Amino acid sequence: MAEKLGNLSEKNILGVINGPQSTVFFIKMGNAYFVEKIATESGEAELLEQIEFYSQLPEHLQRYFPRLLGYQTEKKPYSMTMEMCRYPSLKDIMIYQGINEFVEAQLKSVITHVHQNIHAFTKSEASMDYVEKQYFERCFNRLRETQSLMKDHGGWLENTLIVNGEQTENPIHKTMRIIRELKEFLVPEFVCTTHGQLGPSHLLISTESLGEYKFVDPKGFHVLHDPILDVCKLGRAFLYGFDWIEDNQFSVDYKIDSETLSVESFKIQGFDRDDMVHCFQKLLSSTIAHIGFPNAELRVYAMVCCDLIASLPFGYKSGGERRLVALMMLIHTAANELFSVAKKKTVKGGKYA
Ligand SMILES: Nc1ncnc2c1ncn2[C@@H]1O[C@H](COP(=O)(O)OP(=O)(O)OP(=O)(O)O)[C@@H](O)[C@H]1O
Ligand SMILES: [Mg+2]
Repeated sequence: MAEKLGNLSEKNILGVINGPQSTVFFIKMGNAYFVEKIATESGEAELLEQIEFYSQLPEHLQRYFPRLLGYQTEKKPYSMTMEMCRYPSLKDIMIYQGINEFVEAQLKSVITHVHQNIHAFTKSEASMDYVEKQYFERCFNRLRETQSLMKDHGGWLENTLIVNGEQTENPIHKTMRIIRELKEFLVPEFVCTTHGQLGPSHLLISTESLGEYKFVDPKGFHVLHDPILDVCKLGRAFLYGFDWIEDNQFSVDYKIDSETLSVESFKIQGFDRDDMVHCFQKLLSSTIAHIGFPNAELRVYAMVCCDLIASLPFGYKSGGERRLVALMMLIHTAANELFSVAKKKTVKGGKYA
């Protein structure tokens, strides 16, 4: 949530969000409202890609993104200025107001639109190493990145996890094991342009007019992905409460002894899991009905698991060890659910029979 700063010189700064990749200022100048995004050192490449994306946006997609008003890439820090969209983010609605039928209908419209327009923009054959790169390499690299940031080198991230006194398989290893075994089911029918990070904080939606929404912070048109990627960040939020963790809406009791994490209690405040899962399942079945991929459900669960793992370094940078522990609990639940979905899929093949 934006923190209020009040008046500063002739620009009125309405709020600021400090993230690991950028600092985002919400500004009022006269009657104009705009957003200035200033890259941190680690967010420079992403900001350059985003400027390129906005500059090349085809005309029929322009109304779904904020207008790019200017940018500065001559000297550091790089920055871009864009129109400020006045709709609330899905994240704020979800966490602080709750989802209603209108929001559900809006989300269905968003997903259909993304599939018919953004995914249709560029399509190409999936290469055989797509699963290797998007699932294994990404998880492995982000796990190593997290451990290299940690003073204790985070051995506990790869060790047995103890939940309420019970020992369980390490959830990161479990995820990678299942994915390796199911590799053949995870190769997409094609790869295409995607938004790339269509999570609740990057979706600004009108709560009054159906079909009115804006996407922010896209990953770009240059890398093509499995179209299923564009429901994964929603899945991460709806199925497991990721965005609540990002906003520190959780309590956890844990200890780490000789590289073993033991969690005694964990609760996400205000996350009504049954309701949210039900809502996501409806969204997912309408997506699957549109896209029609036979392995879509398995791919969503597998990709959500990997996405949770891939979020570890950002989690550590913004919330330290406590947030990593919370993320491990989400990965723990997600890995168990991936196992159940995988079991249904492969029961005939005998892998999990
Ligand atoms: N043009 C805009 N109009 C209104 N709100 C915006 C706009 N651009 C960004 N925001 C809000 O500011 C937040 C941060 O912006 P953005 O995601 O682009 O930055 P970021 O550094 O990538 O942040 P994060 O790493 O948390 O995703 C967004 O999640 C969105 O809610
Ligand atoms: Mg962002």
